[in-house]
Amino acid sequence: MVHSGMSANAVPMILTNIRPAVWNSDLKHLMDIDLKCFDDPWDELDWEQLFEDKKKGFCKILIGSCLGIPTGFIVWTETAKSHGRIKRLGVRPMFRGKGVGSKLVEAVETSVLHNGGTEIFVDVTESICYQDGAQLTAWLRHREYLAAAIMSEGGVYNNQIEDLVVFVKHFTEGSLA
Ligand SMILES: CC(C)(COP(=O)(O)OP(=O)(O)OC[C@H]1O[C@@H](n2cnc3c(N)ncnc32)[C@H](O)[C@@H]1OP(=O)(O)O)[C@@H](O)C(=O)NCCC(=O)NCCS
Repeated sequence: MVHSGMSANAVPMILTNIRPAVWNSDLKHLMDIDLKCFDDPWDELDWEQLFEDKKKGFCKILIGSCLGIPTGFIVWTETAKSHGRIKRLGVRPMFRGKGVGSKLVEAVETSVLHNGGTEIFVDVTESICYQDGAQLTAWLRHREYLAAAIMSEGGVYNNQIEDLVVFVKHFTEGSLA
């Protein structure tokens, strides 16, 4: 049944709280989500290194939750050249299509724009990019991220060297308004 005021295609939204991830109380949730999203999940040492980098200001990790249940995460860097680079984004399968991924990306966009950034890159290894019939490419395009470059053998997935597809979104003055 479609309620009045809601189209048949409307995405059901859920209450999503976005906050910085905390070592080590969030670790098992981050690892669990990662495992459910990727064939080459990061291990505990990888996460420990990321949190070390986070402490030094080299990267940021946000976690999304719904009523206290962690639903997704995003890892990104902000460089001196005023751009952001999204390294990893994952939403627990049962929470997909409910606006969580969009909210995580929007949080990164807000941060980068507040710091004077003008563009955000998303690095996606080839096998992730084209899995599920290129759904991810369509999702990124919907969020105005367009494939801008292929870095030959620029990434590693499942211990295999792969091409990296780099997506970019450019912002203009007033994007934050
Ligand atoms: C990609 C991923 C993060 C998306 O997260 P999500 O929470 O399901 O995405 P959302 O619910 O926020 O997406 C909803 C929006 O995207 C649109 N959308 C969803 N699927 C789409 C598709 N295939 N094509 C175009 N638009 C799409 C919806 O219409 C909605 O648009 P709106 O915000 O204008 O209403 C999630 O599917 C995931 O974790 N995938 C596995 C890991 C992965 O591939 N990560 C990215 C590489 S690092």
